[in-house]
Amino acid sequence: MAILVLGGAGYIGSHTVDRLIANGYDVAVVDNLVTGHRAAVNPKARFYEGDVRDKQFLSGVFDKENIEGVIHFAAFSVVPESMAKPLKYFDNNTGGMISLLEVMHEHDVKKIVFSSTAATYGEPKQIPIKETDPQVPTNPYGESKLAMEKIMHWSDVAYGIKFVALRYFNVAGAKADGSIGEDHHPETHLVPIILQVASGERDELTIFGDDYDTPDGTNVRDYVHVVDLADAHILALKYLQAGHDSDAFNLGSSTGFSNKQMLDAAREVTGKPIPAKMGPRRAGDPSTLIAASDKARKVLGWKPQFDDVHEIIKTAWNWKQTHPKGYDDRKGN
Ligand code: UFG
Repeated sequence: MAILVLGGAGYIGSHTVDRLIANGYDVAVVDNLVTGHRAAVNPKARFYEGDVRDKQFLSGVFDKENIEGVIHFAAFSVVPESMAKPLKYFDNNTGGMISLLEVMHEHDVKKIVFSSTAATYGEPKQIPIKETDPQVPTNPYGESKLAMEKIMHWSDVAYGIKFVALRYFNVAGAKADGSIGEDHHPETHLVPIILQVASGERDELTIFGDDYDTPDGTNVRDYVHVVDLADAHILALKYLQAGHDSDAFNLGSSTGFSNKQMLDAAREVTGKPIPAKMGPRRAGDPSTLIAASDKARKVLGWKPQFDDVHEIIKTAWNWKQTHPKGYDDRKGN
Protein backbone atom coordinates (compact mmCIF):
# COMPACT_ATOMS: atom_id res chain seq x y z
CA MET A 1 0.00 0.00 0.00
CA ALA A 2 1.07 3.55 -0.67
CA ILE A 3 1.63 6.65 1.41
CA LEU A 4 0.25 9.77 -0.27
CA VAL A 5 2.33 12.90 0.33
CA LEU A 6 0.48 16.14 -0.44
CA GLY A 7 2.90 18.97 -1.01
CA GLY A 8 5.72 16.47 -1.63
CA ALA A 9 7.55 18.83 -4.01
CA GLY A 10 8.06 21.47 -1.31
CA TYR A 11 11.03 21.93 0.97
CA ILE A 12 10.01 19.71 3.89
CA GLY A 13 7.75 17.49 1.76
CA SER A 14 10.52 16.57 -0.69
CA HIS A 15 12.91 15.64 2.12
CA THR A 16 10.17 13.48 3.68
CA VAL A 17 9.42 11.74 0.35
CA ASP A 18 13.14 11.03 0.05
CA ARG A 19 13.31 9.55 3.57
CA LEU A 20 10.13 7.49 3.03
CA ILE A 21 11.65 5.96 -0.10
CA ALA A 22 14.96 5.32 1.69
CA ASN A 23 12.90 3.46 4.32
CA GLY A 24 11.20 1.23 1.73
CA TYR A 25 7.78 2.91 1.50
CA ASP A 26 5.76 3.04 -1.71
CA VAL A 27 5.08 6.75 -2.24
CA ALA A 28 2.70 8.85 -4.34
CA VAL A 29 3.00 12.64 -4.40
CA VAL A 30 0.43 15.35 -5.10
CA ASP A 31 1.66 18.90 -5.61
CA ASN A 32 0.34 21.85 -7.65
CA LEU A 33 3.92 23.14 -8.14
CA VAL A 34 2.90 26.69 -7.15
CA THR A 35 5.73 26.80 -4.61
CA GLY A 36 7.13 23.28 -5.04
CA HIS A 37 9.67 21.97 -7.56
CA ARG A 38 9.17 18.89 -9.73
CA ALA A 39 12.94 18.24 -9.61
CA ALA A 40 12.81 18.00 -5.81
CA VAL A 41 10.64 14.87 -5.92
CA ASN A 42 12.49 11.57 -5.67
CA PRO A 43 12.01 9.82 -9.06
CA LYS A 44 10.87 6.63 -7.32
CA ALA A 45 7.67 8.40 -6.20
CA ARG A 46 4.64 8.55 -8.54
CA PHE A 47 3.82 12.21 -9.19
CA TYR A 48 0.40 13.82 -9.70
CA GLU A 49 0.28 17.53 -10.50
CA GLY A 50 -2.85 19.12 -9.08
CA ASP A 51 -4.44 21.10 -6.29
CA VAL A 52 -5.62 19.64 -2.98
CA ARG A 53 -8.74 21.82 -3.18
CA ASP A 54 -9.71 20.15 -6.48
CA LYS A 55 -11.82 17.30 -5.10
CA GLN A 56 -12.38 15.64 -8.47
CA PHE A 57 -8.65 15.50 -9.14
CA LEU A 58 -7.89 14.31 -5.62
CA SER A 59 -10.58 11.61 -5.73
CA GLY A 60 -9.03 10.37 -8.99
CA VAL A 61 -5.67 9.97 -7.24
CA PHE A 62 -7.30 8.08 -4.35
CA ASP A 63 -9.14 5.85 -6.89
CA LYS A 64 -5.89 5.02 -8.70
CA GLU A 65 -3.67 4.51 -5.67
CA ASN A 66 -4.13 2.04 -2.84
CA ILE A 67 -3.57 4.59 -0.08
CA GLU A 68 -2.94 3.53 3.49
CA GLY A 69 -2.15 6.93 4.95
CA VAL A 70 -1.58 10.55 4.08
CA ILE A 71 1.11 13.07 4.99
CA HIS A 72 -0.17 16.58 4.39
CA PHE A 73 2.30 19.40 3.69
CA ALA A 74 0.42 21.26 0.97
CA ALA A 75 0.01 24.76 2.40
CA PHE A 76 1.30 28.31 2.19
CA SER A 77 3.69 29.09 5.05
CA VAL A 78 5.01 32.63 4.90
CA VAL A 79 4.06 34.56 8.03
CA PRO A 80 4.39 38.12 6.64
CA GLU A 81 2.50 37.22 3.44
CA SER A 82 -0.31 35.82 5.57
CA MET A 83 -0.59 39.15 7.39
CA ALA A 84 -1.17 40.90 4.06
CA LYS A 85 -3.30 38.18 2.41
CA PRO A 86 -5.18 36.27 5.16
CA LEU A 87 -7.93 34.96 2.85
CA LYS A 88 -5.36 33.34 0.55
CA TYR A 89 -4.15 31.37 3.58
CA PHE A 90 -7.59 30.32 4.84
CA ASP A 91 -8.64 29.34 1.32
CA ASN A 92 -5.59 27.26 0.44
CA ASN A 93 -4.62 25.89 3.83
CA THR A 94 -7.86 25.48 5.72
CA GLY A 95 -9.95 24.91 2.56
CA GLY A 96 -7.45 22.31 1.31
CA MET A 97 -7.76 20.37 4.56
CA ILE A 98 -11.54 20.19 4.19
CA SER A 99 -11.36 18.72 0.65
CA LEU A 100 -8.64 16.31 1.71
CA LEU A 101 -10.60 14.98 4.70
CA GLU A 102 -13.74 14.67 2.59
CA VAL A 103 -11.89 12.60 0.01
CA MET A 104 -10.17 10.53 2.73
CA HIS A 105 -13.55 9.87 4.35
CA GLU A 106 -15.11 8.87 1.01
CA HIS A 107 -12.20 6.46 0.39
CA ASP A 108 -12.07 5.11 3.95
CA VAL A 109 -8.48 6.29 4.55
CA LYS A 110 -8.07 6.74 8.29
CA LYS A 111 -4.56 8.04 8.93
CA ILE A 112 -3.13 11.52 8.43
CA VAL A 113 0.16 13.07 9.54
CA PHE A 114 -0.11 16.83 9.40
CA SER A 115 2.43 19.58 9.03
CA SER A 116 1.43 21.98 11.80
CA THR A 117 3.47 24.77 13.29
CA ALA A 118 4.74 26.59 16.35
CA ALA A 119 2.89 29.55 14.88
CA THR A 120 -0.33 28.01 16.30
CA TYR A 121 0.87 29.00 19.81
CA GLY A 122 1.34 32.70 19.07
CA GLU A 123 3.21 34.70 21.72
CA PRO A 124 3.93 32.05 24.37
CA LYS A 125 3.16 32.60 28.06
CA GLN A 126 6.02 30.29 29.04
CA ILE A 127 9.19 28.89 27.48
CA PRO A 128 9.73 26.13 26.49
CA ILE A 129 6.33 25.73 24.88
CA LYS A 130 4.46 22.52 25.71
CA GLU A 131 1.89 20.83 23.49
CA THR A 132 -0.80 21.53 26.10
CA ASP A 133 -0.09 25.30 26.19
CA PRO A 134 -2.73 27.72 24.86
CA GLN A 135 -2.85 28.13 21.08
CA VAL A 136 -3.49 31.80 20.32
CA PRO A 137 -1.90 32.60 16.92
CA THR A 138 -0.58 36.09 16.22
CA ASN A 139 -0.87 35.74 12.43
CA PRO A 140 -3.31 34.28 9.86
CA TYR A 141 -0.82 31.56 8.88
CA GLY A 142 -0.85 30.16 12.42
CA GLU A 143 -4.62 30.63 12.62
CA SER A 144 -5.16 28.72 9.35
CA LYS A 145 -3.09 25.81 10.69
CA LEU A 146 -4.83 25.84 14.08
CA ALA A 147 -8.17 25.61 12.27
CA MET A 148 -6.78 22.63 10.34
CA GLU A 149 -5.87 20.90 13.61
CA LYS A 150 -9.40 21.50 14.92
CA ILE A 151 -11.01 20.23 11.71
CA MET A 152 -8.94 17.03 12.02
CA HIS A 153 -10.06 16.65 15.63
CA TRP A 154 -13.75 16.76 14.73
CA SER A 155 -13.19 14.47 11.74
CA ASP A 156 -11.62 11.99 14.12
CA VAL A 157 -14.66 12.23 16.44
CA ALA A 158 -17.13 11.82 13.57
CA TYR A 159 -15.35 9.54 11.09
CA GLY A 160 -12.50 7.95 13.08
CA ILE A 161 -9.80 9.58 10.93
CA LYS A 162 -6.75 9.45 13.23
CA PHE A 163 -4.18 12.24 13.00
CA VAL A 164 -0.80 13.28 14.26
CA ALA A 165 -0.20 17.04 14.18
CA LEU A 166 3.52 17.80 14.10
CA ARG A 167 4.12 21.36 15.25
CA TYR A 168 7.37 22.42 13.64
CA PHE A 169 9.56 25.12 15.04
CA ASN A 170 12.15 26.60 12.64
CA VAL A 171 13.37 24.27 9.95
CA ALA A 172 16.66 24.67 8.10
CA GLY A 173 19.38 22.70 6.32
CA ALA A 174 19.40 20.32 3.37
CA LYS A 175 20.06 16.67 2.57
CA ALA A 176 23.75 15.98 3.31
CA ASP A 177 24.64 15.11 -0.32
CA GLY A 178 23.26 18.48 -1.46
CA SER A 179 20.84 16.91 -3.97
CA ILE A 180 17.73 18.57 -2.48
CA GLY A 181 17.37 21.72 -0.40
CA GLU A 182 15.43 24.91 0.27
CA ASP A 183 14.31 27.05 -2.70
CA HIS A 184 11.53 29.60 -2.17
CA HIS A 185 10.57 32.51 -4.44
CA PRO A 186 10.69 35.02 -2.96
CA GLU A 187 12.84 33.79 -0.09
CA THR A 188 11.74 35.08 3.32
CA HIS A 189 13.42 32.67 5.77
CA LEU A 190 16.40 33.69 7.85
CA VAL A 191 18.96 30.96 7.05
CA PRO A 192 18.60 30.97 3.23
CA ILE A 193 18.59 34.79 3.22
CA ILE A 194 21.80 34.88 5.26
CA LEU A 195 23.35 32.43 2.77
CA GLN A 196 22.20 34.56 -0.17
CA VAL A 197 24.20 37.40 1.38
CA ALA A 198 27.16 35.05 1.99
CA SER A 199 27.14 34.03 -1.68
CA GLY A 200 26.95 37.63 -2.92
CA GLU A 201 23.44 37.29 -4.33
CA ARG A 202 22.07 39.84 -1.85
CA ASP A 203 23.94 42.88 -0.49
CA GLU A 204 23.07 42.59 3.19
CA LEU A 205 20.83 41.04 5.79
CA THR A 206 18.26 43.17 7.59
CA ILE A 207 17.58 41.88 11.09
CA PHE A 208 13.94 42.60 11.89
CA GLY A 209 14.02 44.25 15.30
CA ASP A 210 16.56 44.43 18.13
CA ASP A 211 14.24 45.76 20.83
CA TYR A 212 12.61 42.46 21.83
CA ASP A 213 12.73 41.20 25.41
CA THR A 214 15.48 38.67 24.64
CA PRO A 215 19.17 38.55 25.71
CA ASP A 216 20.46 40.45 22.64
CA GLY A 217 17.17 42.09 21.66
CA THR A 218 16.64 40.00 18.49
CA ASN A 219 14.06 37.22 18.09
CA VAL A 220 14.93 33.77 19.39
CA ARG A 221 13.99 30.64 17.43
CA ASP A 222 14.47 26.89 17.80
CA TYR A 223 16.08 25.26 14.73
CA VAL A 224 15.62 21.67 13.54
CA HIS A 225 17.37 20.01 10.61
CA VAL A 226 15.01 19.19 7.74
CA VAL A 227 16.07 15.52 7.57
CA ASP A 228 15.46 15.06 11.31
CA LEU A 229 12.06 16.63 10.77
CA ALA A 230 11.38 14.31 7.83
CA ASP A 231 12.22 11.29 9.97
CA ALA A 232 9.69 12.41 12.59
CA HIS A 233 6.95 12.02 9.95
CA ILE A 234 7.88 8.38 9.44
CA LEU A 235 7.74 7.80 13.20
CA ALA A 236 4.34 9.52 13.32
CA LEU A 237 3.11 7.25 10.56
CA LYS A 238 4.31 4.20 12.47
CA TYR A 239 2.58 5.53 15.59
CA LEU A 240 -0.72 5.64 13.70
CA GLN A 241 -0.06 2.26 12.06
CA ALA A 242 0.35 0.83 15.58
CA GLY A 243 -3.25 1.93 16.31
CA HIS A 244 -2.53 4.81 18.68
CA ASP A 245 -4.90 7.69 19.21
CA SER A 246 -4.68 11.12 17.59
CA ASP A 247 -2.17 13.48 19.17
CA ALA A 248 0.06 16.54 18.65
CA PHE A 249 3.84 16.78 19.03
CA ASN A 250 6.28 19.68 19.01
CA LEU A 251 9.35 19.20 16.84
CA GLY A 252 12.21 21.38 17.97
CA SER A 253 15.62 21.11 19.55
CA SER A 254 14.62 22.74 22.85
CA THR A 255 17.45 25.24 22.33
CA GLY A 256 16.98 28.82 21.23
CA PHE A 257 19.23 30.86 18.94
CA SER A 258 18.78 34.57 18.39
CA ASN A 259 18.84 36.07 14.92
CA LYS A 260 22.21 37.65 15.78
CA GLN A 261 23.57 34.28 16.93
CA MET A 262 22.41 32.68 13.68
CA LEU A 263 24.22 35.38 11.73
CA ASP A 264 27.42 34.79 13.73
CA ALA A 265 27.15 31.01 13.23
CA ALA A 266 26.74 31.51 9.46
CA ARG A 267 29.78 33.82 9.39
CA GLU A 268 31.81 31.05 11.04
CA VAL A 269 30.52 28.29 8.76
CA THR A 270 30.92 30.21 5.50
CA GLY A 271 34.00 32.26 6.39
CA LYS A 272 32.25 35.26 4.74
CA PRO A 273 31.70 38.65 6.37
CA ILE A 274 27.88 38.68 5.66
CA PRO A 275 27.05 42.39 6.06
CA ALA A 276 23.96 43.04 8.21
CA LYS A 277 21.94 45.99 9.50
CA MET A 278 19.16 46.42 12.01
CA GLY A 279 15.67 47.17 10.74
CA PRO A 280 12.22 47.58 12.26
CA ARG A 281 10.21 44.66 13.65
CA ARG A 282 8.35 42.46 11.15
CA ALA A 283 4.58 42.24 11.72
CA GLY A 284 3.36 39.00 13.32
CA ASP A 285 6.72 37.86 14.75
CA PRO A 286 6.56 36.40 18.27
CA SER A 287 9.58 37.34 20.39
CA THR A 288 10.80 33.85 21.41
CA LEU A 289 9.79 30.37 20.22
CA ILE A 290 11.45 27.39 21.87
CA ALA A 291 9.87 23.94 21.93
CA ALA A 292 9.53 21.46 24.72
CA SER A 293 10.09 18.43 22.49
CA ASP A 294 10.52 15.64 25.03
CA LYS A 295 7.08 14.28 24.13
CA ALA A 296 8.13 13.46 20.53
CA ARG A 297 11.31 11.89 21.88
CA LYS A 298 9.48 9.79 24.47
CA VAL A 299 6.31 8.80 22.64
CA LEU A 300 7.49 8.65 19.01
CA GLY A 301 11.09 7.69 19.80
CA TRP A 302 12.39 10.68 17.80
CA LYS A 303 16.18 11.10 17.97
CA PRO A 304 17.33 14.13 15.98
CA GLN A 305 20.84 13.65 14.54
CA PHE A 306 21.68 17.37 14.31
CA ASP A 307 22.05 19.24 17.59
CA ASP A 308 24.26 22.12 16.46
CA VAL A 309 23.10 25.03 14.30
CA HIS A 310 26.56 25.21 12.71
CA GLU A 311 26.06 21.70 11.32
CA ILE A 312 22.57 22.62 10.13
CA ILE A 313 23.86 25.76 8.40
CA LYS A 314 26.74 23.73 6.87
CA THR A 315 24.28 21.48 5.00
CA ALA A 316 22.29 24.51 3.80
CA TRP A 317 25.54 26.16 2.64
CA ASN A 318 26.52 22.98 0.76
CA TRP A 319 23.15 23.06 -1.07
CA LYS A 320 23.54 26.79 -1.78
CA GLN A 321 27.03 26.36 -3.23
CA THR A 322 26.08 23.40 -5.41
CA HIS A 323 22.75 24.98 -6.49
CA PRO A 324 23.32 28.75 -6.62
CA LYS A 325 20.05 29.19 -8.55
CA GLY A 326 18.12 26.59 -6.53
CA TYR A 327 16.27 24.14 -8.80
CA ASP A 328 16.51 26.70 -11.61
CA ASP A 329 12.99 25.86 -12.84
CA ARG A 330 11.27 29.22 -12.59
CA LYS A 331 8.86 30.14 -15.36
CA GLY A 332 9.45 33.88 -15.71
CA ASN A 333 9.47 36.52 -12.89
N1 UFG B 1 14.42 37.46 9.94
C1 UFG B 1 15.21 38.57 9.83
N2 UFG B 1 15.56 38.97 8.59
C2 UFG B 1 15.17 38.33 7.45
C3 UFG B 1 14.36 37.19 7.59
C4 UFG B 1 14.00 36.78 8.85
O1 UFG B 1 15.60 39.19 10.82
O2 UFG B 1 15.50 38.78 6.35
C5 UFG B 1 14.05 37.00 11.29
C6 UFG B 1 12.55 37.01 11.54
O3 UFG B 1 12.09 38.29 11.92
C7 UFG B 1 12.45 35.99 12.66
C8 UFG B 1 13.59 34.99 12.34
O4 UFG B 1 14.46 35.67 11.45
O5 UFG B 1 12.75 36.60 13.88
C9 UFG B 1 13.10 33.75 11.65
O6 UFG B 1 12.26 34.13 10.57
P1 UFG B 1 11.81 33.12 9.45
O7 UFG B 1 11.00 33.90 8.46
O8 UFG B 1 12.96 32.34 8.97
O9 UFG B 1 10.89 32.10 10.24
P2 UFG B 1 9.64 32.38 11.19
O10 UFG B 1 10.12 32.23 12.59
O11 UFG B 1 8.91 33.62 10.85
O12 UFG B 1 8.66 31.24 10.75
C10 UFG B 1 9.08 29.90 10.67
C11 UFG B 1 8.24 29.21 9.63
C12 UFG B 1 6.83 29.20 10.07
C13 UFG B 1 6.72 28.64 11.45
C14 UFG B 1 7.63 29.35 12.40
C15 UFG B 1 7.57 28.70 13.74
O13 UFG B 1 8.35 29.86 8.39
O14 UFG B 1 6.11 28.40 9.18
O15 UFG B 1 8.93 29.30 11.89
O16 UFG B 1 8.66 29.01 14.52
F1 UFG B 1 5.48 28.77 11.90
